Amino acid sequence: METKLLGISKQDIEQAAAILHEGGLVAIPTETVYGLGADGLNAEAVRRIFEAKGRPQDNPLILHIPDASWLERCCEEVPPLARTLAERFWPGPLTMILKRRAVVPDVTTGGLDTVGMRCPAHPVTRAIIAQADVPVAAPSANLSGRPSCTTAADVQEDMNGKIDAIVDGGPCSVGVESTILDLTVTPPRLLRPGGLPLETLQSVCGRIEVDKAVTQLLCPGEQPKAPGMKYRHYAPKAPVTVVTGDAARAAEYIAAHIAPSGGVLCFDEFAERFSAYPVETLGGVCDREEQARRVFDALRAFDGTAVTEIWAQCPDGRGLGLAVANRLQKAAGFHVIDVGEEAET
Ligand code: TXA
Ligand code: MG
Repeated sequence: METKLLGISKQDIEQAAAILHEGGLVAIPTETVYGLGADGLNAEAVRRIFEAKGRPQDNPLILHIPDASWLERCCEEVPPLARTLAERFWPGPLTMILKRRAVVPDVTTGGLDTVGMRCPAHPVTRAIIAQADVPVAAPSANLSGRPSCTTAADVQEDMNGKIDAIVDGGPCSVGVESTILDLTVTPPRLLRPGGLPLETLQSVCGRIEVDKAVTQLLCPGEQPKAPGMKYRHYAPKAPVTVVTGDAARAAEYIAAHIAPSGGVLCFDEFAERFSAYPVETLGGVCDREEQARRVFDALRAFDGTAVTEIWAQCPDGRGLGLAVANRLQKAAGFHVIDVGEEAET
């Protein structure tokens, strides 16, 4: 199959919408990461997403809609809190888990009676969905297990020849996936940290329970609430070790333990120190927005090198740091060494 590269002109938007309407696959830009879209109410089209990605069938997809008025098309119940959150944070990096309607096929929800709903902040993608006039099921556009795609070039690398088209809407402005909040339980539960910080959600929702899979490796047989959280994810080819705690101490630890064939993913301030190794930088120690934008590309970049191990510094869990740390720790299969905070003097 030839994969067309589309831009953001009116004709390109029409073409992307027509492909989706006819059951085809189109990679679409969002503010978080690129998505691999199909008509979410067309079981046959959704099946093709799983094939193209090599994704396990039990891992449900998020439905993307152009505005909150579409919620009723897909959801049985829309509680008042969901409306409040949609008003405050949509379009934007928040996915809400709600009770699904029967019109949403099993293949989309992995057989669950709930469905993830999201209104992305990229205007081109909202225009495509509105024109296609179907909610668009879209997982991240990477091959299953690989780091997510934040540019159209990343999508080409993973999906060329497997899908009908890629819409190039520029690099993603947030860089990590949406925050997933389950609103079918009380208190609401954070299933995946993402582009909307937990603290921001708490300021509106009050208490939020954090699912164990966000911060820990689950025991064998244990089921996370978001099925996707159980898979090793975002992984470059070489094994990753994450070093948490004070950044200067983490750098010391890495310098003392790295093999000559190792690579380093570090904060900008430490790049110089590791100049003898292949280095990718995450952004400044305190610049969590930049870290979110860079984390997936940095992980992908090591696949073009001969490194046999990757050492990564890691932000703490404040703000977007929770999502960045989660992606790094999942890339490492939760192989994490904590060097602790610097002692007070
Ligand atoms: O930012 C994003 O959310 C991106 C862009 C493309 O919108 N999409 C994305 O989709 O990250 P994906 O499929 O890569 O990750 C969706 C996650 C998976 O972990 C899946 O298990 C979980 O959401 N999920 C989807 N529907 C669910 C449901 N009904 N209940 C619990 N978890 C669900
Ligand atoms: Mg994904």
